Amino acid sequence: MNKEVLDGLFRPKSVAVIGASATPGKIGYSVVEALNNGKYEGPIYPINLKADEILGHKAYPSILDLTGKVDLAVITVPAKFVLGSVEECGKAKVKGISIITSGFGEIGDHETENAIVETAHRYGMRVLGPNIIGSLSNSDKLNASFAPTLPLPGDASLISQSGALLIALDAGTYLRGVGFDKLFSLGNMADVDFSDIIEWLDQDERTKCISLYIEGLKDGRRFVDVCKKASKPIIALKSGVSAHGAAAAASHTGSLAGAAKVYGAAFEQAGIIQAQDLNNLFDLTQAFELQPPMKGDHLLIVTNGGGVGVLATDAAERYGIPLEFCPADLQAEMKNYMPEFGSAKNPVDITGGAGLEGYKKCIAFGLQQDWVDGLAVLYCETAMTNPMEIAQGILEAVHQAEENEASKGKPVAVSFVGGEHTAEAMRYLIDHGIPTYDDPARAVNVLGGLRQYARLQEAKANSKNEDGFKADKQAALAIIQAAREDGRDALTEIEAKDVFRAYGLDVTSTRLAKTEDEAVALANKVGYPIVMKIVSPDILHKSDASGVKVNIKDDASTREWFNKIIANAKAYKADANIHGVAIQEMAPLGSEVILGSINDAAFGPTVMFGLGGIFVEVLKDVTFAVTPVSKQQALKMQSDIRGAKILDGARGEKPRDKEAMAITIARYSHMILDLQDEIKESDANPVMVYEDGSGLKVVDARIILKKK
Ligand code: COA
Repeated sequence: MNKEVLDGLFRPKSVAVIGASATPGKIGYSVVEALNNGKYEGPIYPINLKADEILGHKAYPSILDLTGKVDLAVITVPAKFVLGSVEECGKAKVKGISIITSGFGEIGDHETENAIVETAHRYGMRVLGPNIIGSLSNSDKLNASFAPTLPLPGDASLISQSGALLIALDAGTYLRGVGFDKLFSLGNMADVDFSDIIEWLDQDERTKCISLYIEGLKDGRRFVDVCKKASKPIIALKSGVSAHGAAAAASHTGSLAGAAKVYGAAFEQAGIIQAQDLNNLFDLTQAFELQPPMKGDHLLIVTNGGGVGVLATDAAERYGIPLEFCPADLQAEMKNYMPEFGSAKNPVDITGGAGLEGYKKCIAFGLQQDWVDGLAVLYCETAMTNPMEIAQGILEAVHQAEENEASKGKPVAVSFVGGEHTAEAMRYLIDHGIPTYDDPARAVNVLGGLRQYARLQEAKANSKNEDGFKADKQAALAIIQAAREDGRDALTEIEAKDVFRAYGLDVTSTRLAKTEDEAVALANKVGYPIVMKIVSPDILHKSDASGVKVNIKDDASTREWFNKIIANAKAYKADANIHGVAIQEMAPLGSEVILGSINDAAFGPTVMFGLGGIFVEVLKDVTFAVTPVSKQQALKMQSDIRGAKILDGARGEKPRDKEAMAITIARYSHMILDLQDEIKESDANPVMVYEDGSGLKVVDARIILKKK
């Protein structure tokens, strides 16, 4: 990132509008008007071929006629003139260009779009857009866009790939009471993309958290890297998660992937909090702007209504912070602050009869307890209480608690349910730094988000890879090369296992016998019982060709089945190129799991893990992770599947060796990352996982190469 250039683009000291117009209704007019209305303090230079003056600013026929320096040029001329204008900006030593004009990559004209970026880069400039609304910054009084106003001031910044949505959200900030310092429209992302702006915002002192509206990423790997390194919370809403590549995918893993799962996994690895919809994006943004992350799991709920208390309890479970009863000493103390028929368990129900004092005491006391990590305060409007007084009381109690060190750094969220008086009281709380919502589930949802953020930060800190295994990449490449020379883009099972072995995976010993005698010799080396399988690049589904025989126990059967398997294969496919028969160690049965890999369009090499057999076939119970996957993340992948309990030892079985599985997933991820130029898809299916301490065995392996 060239910070100085991006500073010029996003916090310019001077702005030119190329295509500025004196005709109201034109975008070139609106941009100058927006700069004026925002009270931008630097010089504004309208560039127009005919006009002498536009909206109070002297106009110039060309940017090259200016004597003053220009940091940002906003371009609003028709598409066919844009490239020429960019060239002129370069000559005028502009730092950044924001191209509002549409009609480039989005309608198929990638050529002009690329030429624009090349020209800009030749002059050391960066380009925002094209096809955008522009950019806005409250702290610079800069509305370099055709959005009518600057957003409600606040500490978050928003990057939106959709321009229209950005305008709508901008206006919505006032209604919702969620403030932003900077807004960016990304459009076609021909040059500046999410990663560039996130990196820049991470150093922006006016931005406390970063919100994203994403339709698709061009370079998902860089995005994950940048977000991982960011020191500020990032909240993302991803749209278009339903119709991604699943149908086109050739492999099992590919058909199980789909954008929702891969994006979800990548966000989690990057430490990003995922919003479910626009309202949720705003809710979470507000919470992250105003409150600290929640560092432990104990949520305290204080309510005057049983109903909202139960709704919040349900939501707490849904959003990953299930409630626990308060310890007895806390309950005993809080019992003093409510009528006899109240409950201090958690939710702490001070009841409708309790007034302001009940709230204040429970909040101030609760927040100061070590046991409490976060607080939700719920209020139902009653005839005996005044919402504004309750709001003021809540604030007072939170401030009182904050005087005590023990209550610092604990998030608070509030929900008021009631009529128009509650709306006013809610706004009061928001304006005083307490995120407040009209539904208890929304308040709990944001606390869940604040908890999730703290968890992801911890996971990030622990995700070092300590595995000292040194993979033999050269050996793997040699196997791949030999297959390519053979004119193949699928490895045989033996070759695939040799590649897996080079990356430290525990595969069943599998050797090729070309003759009956070789088969017997190898069987004795491996040790009975053995498995025999046809080896032919033309027969990928070996069972369909009756090409597999398990549990062979002696030399005579080995000889018999060697000939039978070859005969079956020939009967199945007369012209199949048969290499011979694989003699394979017979792995004892264990819990069957599957490992797979795909090359995701946005995130590149991506690993899948799931339980094998029916779990993967029918229930599609799998998790994904973008490579590289650390051992810690691999443990998490195992606990993220719905059938996780099976690995923990269901129905009296002993727990499975999750540690060995985690090392295997991490090494496998390293393999597909390392060999990403070669491997298109791969899987280890099944992998038999044994009891804790007894390891695992990769029983079958498949690698499909990228076509070269
Ligand atoms: N240098 C300086 N001024 C120039 C110029 C040049 N090379 N070429 C044209 N102009 C002037 C025009 O004379 C005009 O000013 P005028 O009103 O004084 O005559 C002004 O630039 C605008 O050009 P015009 O031909 O009137 O275009 P327009 O305003 O109808 O449309 C765009 C221009 C860029 C707004 C339009 O092409 C467009 O892309 N619209 C979509 C933008 C959008 O929605 N983006 C966001 C998507 S989320």
